[in-house]
Amino acid sequence: MNATVSTPAITAVRGHLVSLRDNPFVVGDTAAMWAEPDGLLLCRDGKIEAVGAWRELRDQVPENVEVVHYDDALIVPGFIDCHVHYVQTGIIGAFGKQLLEWLENDVFPTEQRFADKAHADVVAKLFCDELLRNGTTTALVFAATYPVSVDALFEEAERRNMRLIAGKVLMDRNAPDALLDTAQQGHDDSEALINRWHGRGRLGYAITPRFAITSSPAQLEAAGALWKAHPEVWVHTHLAENRGEIEAVAGLYPDRSSYLDVYDHHGLVGRRAMFAHGVHLHDADFRHCHDTGAAIAHCPTSNLFLGSGLFPLHEACDPHRPVHVGLGTDVGAGTSFSLPTTAGAAYQVAQLRGHALTAPQLLYLATLGAARALDLDDRIGSLEAGREADFTVLDPHATPLLDFRSKQAGSLDEVLAVLMTLGDNRAVRAAWLAGQPTGPL
Ligand code: GUN
Ligand code: ZN
Repeated sequence: MNATVSTPAITAVRGHLVSLRDNPFVVGDTAAMWAEPDGLLLCRDGKIEAVGAWRELRDQVPENVEVVHYDDALIVPGFIDCHVHYVQTGIIGAFGKQLLEWLENDVFPTEQRFADKAHADVVAKLFCDELLRNGTTTALVFAATYPVSVDALFEEAERRNMRLIAGKVLMDRNAPDALLDTAQQGHDDSEALINRWHGRGRLGYAITPRFAITSSPAQLEAAGALWKAHPEVWVHTHLAENRGEIEAVAGLYPDRSSYLDVYDHHGLVGRRAMFAHGVHLHDADFRHCHDTGAAIAHCPTSNLFLGSGLFPLHEACDPHRPVHVGLGTDVGAGTSFSLPTTAGAAYQVAQLRGHALTAPQLLYLATLGAARALDLDDRIGSLEAGREADFTVLDPHATPLLDFRSKQAGSLDEVLAVLMTLGDNRAVRAAWLAGQPTGPL
């Protein structure tokens, strides 16, 4: 007999709901945070239909719908990773180098393997599993030069109904021949991928020049023209990560006033542009990002691992001209897929810059702030009616140490801080996509 497995259109989830309503760097923690200790999320057709106190909403749950109750856990919006390389999953923890040498020795060899669709399929599956295991429900992802490496990832994300943005890397110089495209081929391959994937289900395309060292002026110009022709897609690249890199860019683009100006000159700065790192940006760059709506992915575990520097988060988030900032794991330079772990590293980096971050600020950077940075806050990033029902269930008692420590915590903020200090994938009890629980973590 053939049994058809169908997903229910309506689901209901009860538990301690925690979400941001606004930017705590601007309005302060109290105004920005929202929590409902005994709350209900009523989901219909992949979206949150109603959210609020259990006692007020319980009557809206249809009789035939079983309420999933997560006791003693926090339900937060699904985490959003603003910068990650799925094709570098196999080289996490390659010791001993800084950026440019690491690219040559570790990254370029591993990325060449993604010309093989079968290899890309295997890694794409592992990668999506790892995102969900860590409670990450959306990511902005670098694939490799090869269009098949993008196909593999989008096929995997589509199977799971994940909201995911990715792109084929553009690089036409300063890398092994096997990884290079040309300005024209890169443009045409990207456009074909946009036509095949952008807007299909919950998938989006990002035009993805690796960085200014590996793209000629002609390639950046073609990328800018492509964005002009498809303004609904994203731009995703690296910016001002490492001092050696910045020197090389200045040598390759001597007429440009700054690294950001290289991208700006080619029409690659604006809303829906995501720049990874920005460790060595200055006030004028942050102002330009603020004015144009361009966003920065702060990748602290990567910056520490490669010795790139300490991102000036408080300058970027200055309430007088706040820049959109989200967190990025930047795997494989980053050392963890976990956004709570990445938030913990952001806390430590900020301390070394003389600022202590708060738990609501960090949760913002991993959820609503990232959604705003991606111009997707009307879809994801918060627990609000009308948003897509992507959320993550965190267990503050997941390990003996977490349990012991969380029991000493006197406030929600303290529990969140503990989760960002001790928490990793073990603290993720469940991840839901579009109102459906994902498989066992
Ligand atoms: N800059 C150019 N390419 C890369 C990359 O793959 N990883 C990081 N961290 N920085 C880069
Ligand atoms: Zn990167």
